[in-house]
Amino acid sequence: MGKKLVIGSSGQIGTELILDLINTYGINQVIATDIKATPPDVIKEVDFFPLDVLDNENLFNLVKSQNVDEIYLLAALLSATAEKKVQSAWNLNMKGLFNVLDLAKEGHIKKVFWPSSIAIFGASSPKVLTPQKTIAEPSTVYGISKLAGERWCEYYYNNYGVDVRSLRYPGLISYKSEPGGGTTDYAVDIFHQALKKGSYTSFLAEDIRLPMMYMDDAIRATKELMLASKEDLTIRSSYNVNGMNFTPNEIGLQIKKLLPDFKLNFKPDFRNEIALTWPESTDDSFAQNDWNWKPIFDLESTVSTMINKISKQFIIN
Ligand code: SER
Repeated sequence: MGKKLVIGSSGQIGTELILDLINTYGINQVIATDIKATPPDVIKEVDFFPLDVLDNENLFNLVKSQNVDEIYLLAALLSATAEKKVQSAWNLNMKGLFNVLDLAKEGHIKKVFWPSSIAIFGASSPKVLTPQKTIAEPSTVYGISKLAGERWCEYYYNNYGVDVRSLRYPGLISYKSEPGGGTTDYAVDIFHQALKKGSYTSFLAEDIRLPMMYMDDAIRATKELMLASKEDLTIRSSYNVNGMNFTPNEIGLQIKKLLPDFKLNFKPDFRNEIALTWPESTDDSFAQNDWNWKPIFDLESTVSTMINKISKQFIIN
């Protein structure tokens, strides 16, 4: 069996995916890479190599020298950052994907995981229970790059037999490492500020409803999709996957149940405009039917877990 390589291992998803892959395959079967030279403490046990996914040659050498057979490509610029760095976001998000897909096309690796996002939808898509297949006219650089990426994944599967698998992640909520540069990041930051300062100013308006998922569910979805048998998968672009959905006001009220003095203020910025174009919830029946997807965490369990885990980090630090 070949090794599992995570590109972008120091990010919000990467740090947790690495831990899960170690549990599933063993520490000697997992390789972490990131553009940042030093890995975060949580994953310091695993073999780590600094890597820029745009550096084809180093990527190829690593895959060969380490006997890699699966790549999880998580390196990307998220929606808010991408609006400020248009060309580099497009370049990283697209060229990074081609570099990995081409390794699979040439037979150097067997399987690829690449995350897409609810950001592939746009203002003209149905907002509630957005179908798997529907109008998708994204208006952000990030959304455009993810939609294009989905089309390329399907193309590589259809034309070259590349076994690439993908999920349209909702906003992801986690405590082990923080997200960076996304429109849904408020739903993580709110916990840190609530515990540090007792208040939070949301950059999304109080009634903006977005699809969200607790990280444990996201990692489990990733694992279940990657372990599903090829014959069961009917979507080779990217699967809708539901977790929960809520507004800033609703998560604020839930936090208040546990921290009664918590104050939530609103100061919407450009990220509010992005969020306005995204779905409120998605229809994930393809994921349910093809590989039995079912989320576990709802808003209540997410809020209590986040408060519990982040308060413990404060005590340790
Ligand atoms: N969480 C991402 C973002 O906000 C969406 O996929 O950019």
